[in-house]
Amino acid sequence: MDFLTLFGIYVAVVLTCIALVCKYSGHQQTPLGLLLDKFTGIVSPWIPQRIQSFCYRSMHRLFHQRNNLFLFLHLLLEVVVYGEFSYEVFGFCSDMGTSSISLCVPYVLLAVKSYLFYLCCSRDPGTLTKANHTAQLKVYQYDEKLFHQGVRCSTCQLLKPARSKHCRVCNRCVQRFDHHCVWVNNCIGAQNTRFFLLYLLSVCAMAADVAVLTADMLLKAVLRTGLLHAHYIDEQGEQQLAGPIFIIQHLFLTFPRIVFMLGFLVFVFFLLAGYFMFHMYLALINQTSNEWFKGKGHSCQHCHPYSAHNCRTSYNPFRGFYYRGILKNLGEIFWPLCPAQKKEN
Ligand SMILES: *[C@@H]1O[C@H](CO)[C@@H](O)[C@H](O)[C@H]1NC(C)=O
Ligand SMILES: [Zn+2]
Ligand SMILES: [Zn+2]
Repeated sequence: MDFLTLFGIYVAVVLTCIALVCKYSGHQQTPLGLLLDKFTGIVSPWIPQRIQSFCYRSMHRLFHQRNNLFLFLHLLLEVVVYGEFSYEVFGFCSDMGTSSISLCVPYVLLAVKSYLFYLCCSRDPGTLTKANHTAQLKVYQYDEKLFHQGVRCSTCQLLKPARSKHCRVCNRCVQRFDHHCVWVNNCIGAQNTRFFLLYLLSVCAMAADVAVLTADMLLKAVLRTGLLHAHYIDEQGEQQLAGPIFIIQHLFLTFPRIVFMLGFLVFVFFLLAGYFMFHMYLALINQTSNEWFKGKGHSCQHCHPYSAHNCRTSYNPFRGFYYRGILKNLGEIFWPLCPAQKKEN
């Protein structure tokens, strides 16, 4: 019973965190975000005004201003997982004959991931300045649906190049803006989408590899104790084979931290793998998340009347305006277009 309570709290905390991140990270209208809105609507009459405005201000500071909290959270989770892995799983596995090469792969992945993470955080996403925004105006054509010629950013006063957007968190305009990522505390734009994609891929690989090694260790532990063939005497005094539930209970009681870690890793893996595939799909069809979320439900009736003709010829939800063929689309991510290159196509 105690265990179940603990587990319930754990799941609730994880779901709340995801809901918060979904709600405040700019992608509104996710189911969890809507659920959170409902929930706050229900509980807010019972909470004093002062506490409410304090919560609101902290959320604002967390998600709408640049801060390093998520960098630390990220580091902390990593230290916990790798600490647990090195402390319990590593020794156990090498005793049980897992080769030391496969046990070292997680550390190599950690190094690769950390480097990519560093690149994501520190590389300029493609900030537009007075000096270089004129050249950037020529990189992409205006589709006259999401991006219109001659529009100025109301904050920077610069003419907006097509596909650019002003990031309110960083207070700058960014070329080929994708989204502002709180985890890397940076915008994702023309110059760092490639690092972001590779970073997501490396985190998935890391989570999957540590999870596989951990699962392998648990399996070996079960095999070694002979639990698969164990029997117990039930209330009627009959002999019963210990089933999977019995084995899971046994594992929870013997290796509680490891089982929790495995659950966490599997969860992170599926979450990030889904997110990676979404971004990969966007990269293949040459769209940014910004365009994806803005363009959903956009149909020709909503277009500016003068651009209706333009619209009919180029609108296709799966091949957006900037689609140039799968290989070229991918190439654009890894070798961002420069003003001079544009002339070739
Ligand atoms: C514009 O110039 C700034 C400052 O030198 C630089 O950081 C930024 O990357 C440049 N933007 C692009 C899109 O090249
Ligand atoms: Zn701006
Ligand atoms: Zn930003």
